[in-house]
Amino acid sequence: MDYKIGVIAGDGIGPEITDAAWTVMTKVAQKFGHHFERTDILMGGCSIDATGEPLTDDAIASAKAQDAVLMGSIGGNTSTSPWYKLPPDKRPEAGLLKLRKSLGLFANLRPAYLYPQLKESCPLKEATADKGFDLIMVRELTGGLYFGKRHTESYNGVLQATDTLTYNENEIRRVAVKAFDIARKRRKKVTSVDKANVLDSSRLWRKVVEEVWADYPDVELEHMLVDNCAMQLVRDPAQFDVILTENMFGDILSDEAAMITGSLGMLSSASLNETKFGLYEPSGGSAPDIAGQDIANPIATILSAAMLLRYSLDLDDEADAVENAVTKVLEDGIRTRDILPREGADKMTIVGCKAMGQAVADRI
Ligand code: IPM
Ligand code: MG
Repeated sequence: MDYKIGVIAGDGIGPEITDAAWTVMTKVAQKFGHHFERTDILMGGCSIDATGEPLTDDAIASAKAQDAVLMGSIGGNTSTSPWYKLPPDKRPEAGLLKLRKSLGLFANLRPAYLYPQLKESCPLKEATADKGFDLIMVRELTGGLYFGKRHTESYNGVLQATDTLTYNENEIRRVAVKAFDIARKRRKKVTSVDKANVLDSSRLWRKVVEEVWADYPDVELEHMLVDNCAMQLVRDPAQFDVILTENMFGDILSDEAAMITGSLGMLSSASLNETKFGLYEPSGGSAPDIAGQDIANPIATILSAAMLLRYSLDLDDEADAVENAVTKVLEDGIRTRDILPREGADKMTIVGCKAMGQAVADRI
């Protein structure tokens, strides 16, 4: 079959990690007899440099014309890059937020799984790491603080900044439905995370999630306050199956969930709308400090490509093949530097970004 795949390489390590993932996609195409037509799309700092805008209307139109889009990462060093001298709506991140909003990508899925081979890289207590964990974060992606009205003004010479956190019940309902649907195919438990002891938006969140739950009697629901969830994630992550939460809480908790898997470089993500279309990206950032050195870990991007195959193209066998190849690579002791074990690192084969992509491709 022929498929149209957009690639947003982006900034920093973005081009390296998307190239490594594309090596894997190319192998999948060969092995399974598909054709992936690659269209490169500009977004982020590289788009600012080329066009003056972090995301042009042409780029949005091009993304919309694809079956799915694979993304690397965008942005630079926020203290030193000239991009951050621009007004906020002209900076690299504004491009990503605009893309998510324009495509209606309201559900962001971020699976955090501790590979048994990476137990030694897990920063948690040994007994906790030994137990392992396998959870998925479902983060609302087009509402809340990220998209509320904001402004900065001066009152009698004192600067004051305001950001607003708004959710309507429809926005909560559609992402809650996604979370319960996913839980049904997993271990049938949803933990809905909010700050209902303080925020009105969280109290509405809780009410709507309970209403949705009524259609899923086979799924267990628990509510958890976000501060407690941050703590439980490091204390006992095995208790979680599906974590459902709003945009900002999900941003923060997903970095935490990623890190306990051993490295931010392991966490993939899918951002979905009501159709089959999706934007797939690693959860980590553009890591400008290591860009261009061929040392970044492309596994999160490769696993994002696997999610693309599964969710947007319905190619389950192909997605399984990629995921199994990643497991095989880890079993074979092949590691980028961020996922070296605390002990026995000398027994591992340390590779760069490109070689890691090739190693995964070779095992498909
Ligand atoms: C993420 C990133 C983005 C976010 C940034 C780059 C705007 O941190 O995808 O988690 O906050 O959503
Ligand atoms: Mg983030």
